[in-house]
Amino acid sequence: MTSKSKYPDGDLLLRTSPRPSDTNMNGDIFGGWIMSQMDIAGGMMAMETTGGRAVTVAVDAMKFIKPVKVGDVVCCYGKVVRIGITSINIKLEVWAKPVLREVNANKEGEFFMVTEASFTYVAVDHEGQKRQFSKIEILS
Ligand SMILES: CC(C)(COP(=O)(O)OP(=O)(O)OC[C@H]1O[C@@H](n2cnc3c(N)ncnc32)[C@H](O)[C@@H]1OP(=O)(O)O)[C@@H](O)C(=O)NCCC(=O)NCCS
Repeated sequence: MTSKSKYPDGDLLLRTSPRPSDTNMNGDIFGGWIMSQMDIAGGMMAMETTGGRAVTVAVDAMKFIKPVKVGDVVCCYGKVVRIGITSINIKLEVWAKPVLREVNANKEGEFFMVTEASFTYVAVDHEGQKRQFSKIEILS
């Protein structure tokens, strides 16, 4: 499932940087923190794309490729890969850039892929019931 690309795919949706409170006992950033950033980024894209509220209904398998450390600049990229009747599927990638830490001399500052996953969102109304949205507006 891992992309071999050297560059992120999709639109830049979110940039952030983890704090010491986001680490586990090894000093690495919790996978859950990264998933949460992905869901925030994908959720914004889902709401913008469907023109209203959207909720996360499913996430496919994820593999964390490299650890993220405190102070790294973390970027989340996304693109809509499938448009259904009430749902959309967004491919999300997380990339990180070490800023505050010493890295291997040849790779200092290198932008690396952390993980990727496919998130599915369902458009909902104010009562939380699924709603149809206009595919034509999205595709035009
Ligand atoms: C999302 C929710 C409104 C869907 O309601 P529902 O009536 O059960 O909807 P359906 O089973 O008919 O599925 C709706 C759409 O989601 C898709 N979907 C449902 N389960 C899916 C899954 N596991 N993977 C991918 N797509 C899924 C369906 O294919 C359908 O897409 P389409 O209309 O584009 O064809 C409802 O399940 C819900 O409120 N879930 C909680 C969401 C939430 O709170 N998320 C935050 C995490 S706590």
